[in-house]
Amino acid sequence: MSTARPLRRGRFARILVIGGALVAVAFGYGALAPDGAAGADGPQSQQIEEGRKLFAVGCSSCHGIHAEGGTDGDGRFTGPSLIGVGAAAVVFQVGTGRMPAVQPGAQVPRKPPVYTEEETAALAAYVASLAPGPAVPPAEAYDISKVTQEEITRGGELFRTNCTACHNFSGRGGALPNGRYAPSLMHTTPRDAYLAMLTGPQQMPVFSDAVLLPEDKRSIIAYIAALQEQQDPGGLGLGRLGPVSEGLWGWFVGIGLLVAVAVWIGLKVPTVPRRRE
Ligand code: HEC
Ligand code: HEC
Repeated sequence: MSTARPLRRGRFARILVIGGALVAVAFGYGALAPDGAAGADGPQSQQIEEGRKLFAVGCSSCHGIHAEGGTDGDGRFTGPSLIGVGAAAVVFQVGTGRMPAVQPGAQVPRKPPVYTEEETAALAAYVASLAPGPAVPPAEAYDISKVTQEEITRGGELFRTNCTACHNFSGRGGALPNGRYAPSLMHTTPRDAYLAMLTGPQQMPVFSDAVLLPEDKRSIIAYIAALQEQQDPGGLGLGRLGPVSEGLWGWFVGIGLLVAVAVWIGLKVPTVPRRRE
């Protein structure tokens, strides 16, 4: 009896210590974990507020004061609604300098960006706060520094299946109906390529992450980067117009040479007088 007591007390103490530790962990976690409710008044909402102000000055004239889409005094369309386009569309459009658009036309061209990275992020946060939409992917999603040759090859296959119809199989772009065009991809950045696939600007289809998995997108981006680096080992690139024009070139030069050789041989053959019938 006298030996059992200290043992039981020892057990009780252990339970107390473990229980105390659990409570401490729970409180510690509560203090450290990000608090959703408190975040609403934190730096994020400040960024949204900043974006709202920038939007009112630079974008609302075309897109409406609440981004609901706009028309001018005569009821003509000035800009689409941005509710639900997501942060990704804003970062793509503003980051490639397409927005703010300057004048109406068949297609808003790419130009040097007007807003800084922070301002662009604020505009994106504001638009994203209006309704859910595609978010900007993390930088790892389009980090192509470690892709393998197989991934690039696969990217090439995916590119030929999904992109060449508009961007040409060399990525140098091409014309579309009604004065529109698919731009050359020779100067596009990995981030913009990811965002373009995610948001599908203008005629370009949306390649959501369900259609083209994030790793597929990365392979395609790596392939585009490989195209950008590619030299023309044969000398003349012929604008990479494709196998048909390159074939034609081979045809004219090759067949031309053959004809020349045939003529030359023909000239050397001694002329045999024809037999009379
Ligand atoms: C002069 C008018 C004009 C101004 C100013 C303008 N936009 Fe636009 N915006 C347009 C038009 C027109 C389109 C549709 C053009 C197109 O499809 O290429 C568009 C398209 C967009 C899109 C793509 C929507 C989608 O469905 O993917 C985004 C995002 C956008 N604008 C954001 C902005 C932001 C942010 C600003 C301010 C920095 C801005 N725009 C300023 C006219 C304008
Ligand atoms: C139906 C035609 C079409 C297809 C298919 C298409 N695109 Fe596009 N793409 C476009 C058009 C049009 C634009 C320009 C949109 C604009 O200016 O608002 C564009 C723009 C882009 C841009 C932005 C370029 C820049 O300089 O800002 C990238 C990157 C891009 N496309 C990549 C791709 C990739 C990768 C694929 C295949 C997965 C693809 N596109 C498939 C039509 C297409």
